[in-house]
Amino acid sequence: MPDAFRAELNKEIITKAYARWAPVYDVVFGPVFEHGRHAAIEAAERIGGRVLEVGVGTGLSLPYYSSDLRIWGIDVSEPMLRKAQQRVAEHGLNNVEALVVMDAEHLDFPDASFDVIVAQYVITTVPNPEAALDEFARVLRPGGEIVLVSRVGAEAGLRRTLEKWFAPAARKLGWRTEFSFQRFSQWAKESRGMELVERRSMPPFGHFSLIRFCKESGLPKEDGMAGAARAVA
Ligand SMILES: C[S@@+](CC[C@H](N)C(=O)[O-])C[C@H]1O[C@@H](n2cnc3c(N)ncnc32)[C@H](O)[C@@H]1O
Repeated sequence: MPDAFRAELNKEIITKAYARWAPVYDVVFGPVFEHGRHAAIEAAERIGGRVLEVGVGTGLSLPYYSSDLRIWGIDVSEPMLRKAQQRVAEHGLNNVEALVVMDAEHLDFPDASFDVIVAQYVITTVPNPEAALDEFARVLRPGGEIVLVSRVGAEAGLRRTLEKWFAPAARKLGWRTEFSFQRFSQWAKESRGMELVERRSMPPFGHFSLIRFCKESGLPKEDGMAGAARAVA
């Protein structure tokens, strides 16, 4: 990955930004991202089992997972996670196993420990998105899926110009405006056993996409589904 991308954001900027966002996050970003959160949960439910939600934030998505899933949430921001903890208590969410302060780039879980990794509106806020994706792939079991909802930057035109212009201010707020889809597809190409299986445009204004990657089950293709089922048994 080019070094220029690595230096864009750092953990200190992110934690400071989200400590400021925490008290007002739900009002500002609750309804506007609701469609994407529901779409990601729907995709995760199709796999089922043990779910890791990375960058769980204030836990807006947590009440929408079905009760038979087992959910772990992680985030680098303690103030955001405190809000998530309150939500879990208020809704009595017994399917949430733990909420932990942790960095997406350094997941403290063994290999292949989750059936699904969900990250909604997170990956472009992480200093090194490809390192985080590598970690998602590592902790995902064969046959499992990574489900992202992410901003995807424009490739050309007025939106691209505006995104470049707004980029320095956006960084201070804790996110990136310019982030090409090619970075996701390139990551999948370079990652052994990971396949890009879906990209679907999400509101508002199609600036976001739901992106799914599947981890090879390691079994012949025609036996793929049965293989995935056996891998978690
Ligand atoms: C835009 S918010 C999205 C929150 C939530 N997923 C939602 O749908 O509203 C981004 C979240 O990612 C978290 N985050 C940013 N960088 C992270 C990292 N390296 N590791 C874990 N969480 C991170 C932030 O603290 C913040 O809570």
